[in-house]
Amino acid sequence: MSDMPGLAARLLALGMRHMDLVFRILRNTLPILVVRRGGRHYALITRYDDVQEVLSRPNTFNVVYAPKIAVIMEGDNIFLGMRDEERQRRDKATLRLAAPQAEAMARVKPETRRLAEEVIGRVRERGRLDLAMELTQEVTTRLFGAYFGTPGRSVEEISEQARRLFGYMFASPGNDPARQARAEPVAAALRRDIEETIRARKQDRGRHDDMLERCLRFQDIGLPGLSDREIRNNLIGLIVGAMPQAPMLIPQLFDRLLDRPRELAEAQAAARADDDAAVARYVFEAARFWPLAPWLYRQCEETYRLAGGTLRSRVIPRGTLVLAATRSAMFDGRRVPRPRAFRTDRPDHAYMHFGYGLHECFGIHMNKVMVPEICKAVLRLPGLRRAPGPEGRIRMDDEFGIFPMNLTVEFG
Ligand code: HEM
Repeated sequence: MSDMPGLAARLLALGMRHMDLVFRILRNTLPILVVRRGGRHYALITRYDDVQEVLSRPNTFNVVYAPKIAVIMEGDNIFLGMRDEERQRRDKATLRLAAPQAEAMARVKPETRRLAEEVIGRVRERGRLDLAMELTQEVTTRLFGAYFGTPGRSVEEISEQARRLFGYMFASPGNDPARQARAEPVAAALRRDIEETIRARKQDRGRHDDMLERCLRFQDIGLPGLSDREIRNNLIGLIVGAMPQAPMLIPQLFDRLLDRPRELAEAQAAARADDDAAVARYVFEAARFWPLAPWLYRQCEETYRLAGGTLRSRVIPRGTLVLAATRSAMFDGRRVPRPRAFRTDRPDHAYMHFGYGLHECFGIHMNKVMVPEICKAVLRLPGLRRAPGPEGRIRMDDEFGIFPMNLTVEFG
């Protein structure tokens, strides 16, 4: 925002503060907003159907991540940064073989429960718990560190690396050179760590059951896309793609739930009754009111008429930076009935927490059990409430402003 004249920057800041209202107005007036600024087109897409249309045309609306992935991976790319091409689907499918969907229930769920109970066991006497760094960061970093085969030297170090690279990749659309300069040494250190882990594990085969060991087995039998360097790149992609998000989503959704005493009590009853399906419905509905991100960025690679055949149809010129506002789409009453009501009877397709189309989150199956499982451990605590004072209010990081650093609750 630093290059914007004062008024434009102030208007943008105001719009960000009242984002849901702005989205609502746009959905009903200018649902496909195309503006030109500084020689470039920008498009903000706010209706459910149009957001899904953008996300289901990955070669017209390409992901924007490749240049930043190249900075992190020494010039290489991973499937997150690719178009709809054979390598994209091959690499994603290979990684899926290394992390089968069935393990979400069989492995991720019990391990998440064990880790969450361990953390909560430590603070039970104290009656206070920070949902961000203390609970979710520790649980997810240890969970995925073990599952990927990349535990890092400490929870704090690897999650800080992941957060910095995530912020650079997903929260710095302006290609700020200072942010790149700060990301480069973090990426170099993480590359060195993962290379060292791979080297060490090649001397210690057959004694682990994790994604790294499975990738090495695929390498043994000659599957393509699995050189040491490609394994390194995909593991870094997973670390950055997996570790920071739950510590964002979970404090955010609790921030909303804690202000809704009725729904909070119902979610707690579901958690105490071990009704996991109901807990998941409360959790992902609460997250709709403060999801991970307001939008996903795409670059329009060929001039395209969006919502063709409708009165709102607009041409998106080639080169446009498109903001596909998934947060707005989840509030579009045309597809999500009574969107401002908190409802737990919504079908799965009302939610776009994990993206849509080709680049839908690789971790989606794990998330659908891991996120509710962590929340369930919190919901079971008696007398759950915000801590008094600033500790009980969500506090974001100073650099990117997107990572919750603290949200303390009290119980008992
Ligand atoms: C609460 C947790 C999470 C949320 C909210 C989340 C959200 C998302 C979203 C919205 C996307 C789509 C990005 C786009 O289309 O531009 C995505 C992609 C991705 N996510 Fe997640 N994610 C989470 C956890 C995870 C986990 C646990 C993993 C790994 C185990 C993971 C790995 C990935 C990868 C590799 C992609 C890229 C997929 C592709 O390009 O095909 N994510 N995630």
